Amino acid sequence: PEIGCLSVIVLGASGDLAKKKTFPALFHLYRQGFIQSQDVHIFGYARTAISDHDLRSRIRGYLTPCKGFEETHEEDVAQFLRLIKYVSGAYDKEEGFRLLDKAISEYELSKNSTEGSSRRLFYLALPPSVYPPVCKMIRSYCMNKSDLGGWTRIVVEKPFGRDLASAEELSAQIGELFDEPQIYRIDHYLGKELVQNLMVLRFANRFFLPLWNRDNISNIQIVFREDFGTDGRGGYFDQYGIIRDIIQNHLLQVLCLVAMEKPVSLKPEHVRDEKVKVLQSVLPIEDNEVVLGQYEGYTDDPTVPDNSNTPTFATMVLRIHNERWEGVPFIMKAGKALNSRKAEIRVQFKDVPGDIYKCQKQGRNEFVIRLQPSEAMYMKLTVKQPGLEMTTAQSELDLSYGQRYQETIIPEAYERLILDTIRGDQQHFVRRDELKAAWEIFTPLLHRIDRGEMKPLPYKPGSRGPEEADKLAQKAGYVQTHGYIWIPPTL
Ligand code: BG6
Repeated sequence: PEIGCLSVIVLGASGDLAKKKTFPALFHLYRQGFIQSQDVHIFGYARTAISDHDLRSRIRGYLTPCKGFEETHEEDVAQFLRLIKYVSGAYDKEEGFRLLDKAISEYELSKNSTEGSSRRLFYLALPPSVYPPVCKMIRSYCMNKSDLGGWTRIVVEKPFGRDLASAEELSAQIGELFDEPQIYRIDHYLGKELVQNLMVLRFANRFFLPLWNRDNISNIQIVFREDFGTDGRGGYFDQYGIIRDIIQNHLLQVLCLVAMEKPVSLKPEHVRDEKVKVLQSVLPIEDNEVVLGQYEGYTDDPTVPDNSNTPTFATMVLRIHNERWEGVPFIMKAGKALNSRKAEIRVQFKDVPGDIYKCQKQGRNEFVIRLQPSEAMYMKLTVKQPGLEMTTAQSELDLSYGQRYQETIIPEAYERLILDTIRGDQQHFVRRDELKAAWEIFTPLLHRIDRGEMKPLPYKPGSRGPEEADKLAQKAGYVQTHGYIWIPPTL
C-alpha cells in the first residue's frame, strides 16, 4: 500500500454525477476505512463561487448510510464533510487551476511532505466538451510534485464522443496530455458485482469450459430494461439515444466479458487485449437485424424536439466472427419506459439431440446471470416433476446473492471503481483502442439513424417495447420458455 497523502479533486463538484455518485462513493470508501482522514483530502472545483460550507450542504443529503454503520451516520457524515474543500474557477482559465494547485500543495505540505508522496486523482464529473481544456489546465498547473513522487490520474466518463471520428478526436486531445496509464475511462457496469464475477465464472469453473461455445449455445441475450423514461434528462438523452447511452458502452462491455477468450493472465493489459480482440471480431450490424423504438410521450419533454428520431429502445443482433462464436447471435436489448427494471445475461443452450422427452418439455436449458436487481445466477433445467407422475418440469439451480451472501454488503459500482483508480488498477476501465473498436461497431448504424434513414417504432410506456423486437429475437433463434417464471427467493 502506498503511503502519503492523497488528494481527490472532483471537478464539476455541484453537478448531478458528483452529488449522486462520486461523493457518496467516496463517503462509503471513507466510512469503510479504504480512505482515511489522516491521509486524504477532497477538493471540489466548479465555476460557481460558493463556500466550503455551501458545497458540503449540497452534498450532505446524498450521503446514504453504509450498511452496518447506521447508528454513527450523522457523525460520520460530519467527519467526512470536513475533508472537503471548495475552490471555484473557470474550466479553461489558468487562474482557477493555479488556486487549486495552491490549495492541494498546501495540504500536501501540511502532511509532512518529506515522508509523504503527492497523489492527485482528478475526477472529471463534467460534460466531455470541457475535457480537453480541463486536461490542459491540469497538465499545465496541477500535476503532482515530482520531487515527492506519487502520481496524477484523471477519471473520465462517457459520453466519449458521438461516433468514431469524434471519439478519436477526443482521445487524441487527451492523449497528447496524459499517457494511457494515467487515464481511467469509467464504465460503471464494469463495477457491478456480477459483471466482475463473469471472468471468474467462466475461467475458474470446469463446468463452463466445454459448453461455452457454438457447439452448445444457441443464442445469448444481453438485456437492459428501465421502467422509467428520460425523467428530466431528455435534453441530454436526445443528443445520444439508447444505443450510445447504454448499448455501445454498458452492454458491449458485458458482451466482451461473456465472449472473450481466456486472457494470458489477470494483468489489466492482458484482459483488455482480449476484449479488444473480440470487439474487432464483431461483424457489421445488418439493418434487418435491428429494431428501434421510441416510447409514446417521449417528445412531450420540452427539451426534446417534437420531431425527434432518437430511439429510447433498441434491439439488435451482433455476430462474432470467430471460431468460438460463428453462428451464435448476441441479441442486445435496451429500453427506457418499459414494464420492468432489470439487467441480465441470458445464455440459451441448444436443444438436446435425439431428445426422448421433447414432447413434454417446457423449454431449453438457460443460464441466466441477473445483474440487477436481486443479483443472482440461475440455471434453468428440466427435472422430473416430484411426485407419482412421471412427467418433467422446468426448474432451476439458483444462486441468489441476497440469500446466499446475507451478511455481505455488495458495494456500489462507483465505490469499487474509484478504489481501483486510487490503487492504480486499470483492469475494469476502458482502454483507448477498446473504445475505438466499440465505436467502429456502432458508428455506421448510428449515422443511418442520425440521417433519419431508420425510424423508431412507437411503443406504449410500461410495455415490453415494440413487438417486432420479440419477433427479431425469435428469428435469431431464441425460444421462449412457456409456463415458467423464475421468482427470486425471499429471505
Ligand atoms: C447511465 C445511463 O450510464 O446508466 C442512464 O446514462 C441509465 O441512462 C444508467 O439510467 C443505468 O445505470 P444502472 O446502474 O442504474 O443500471
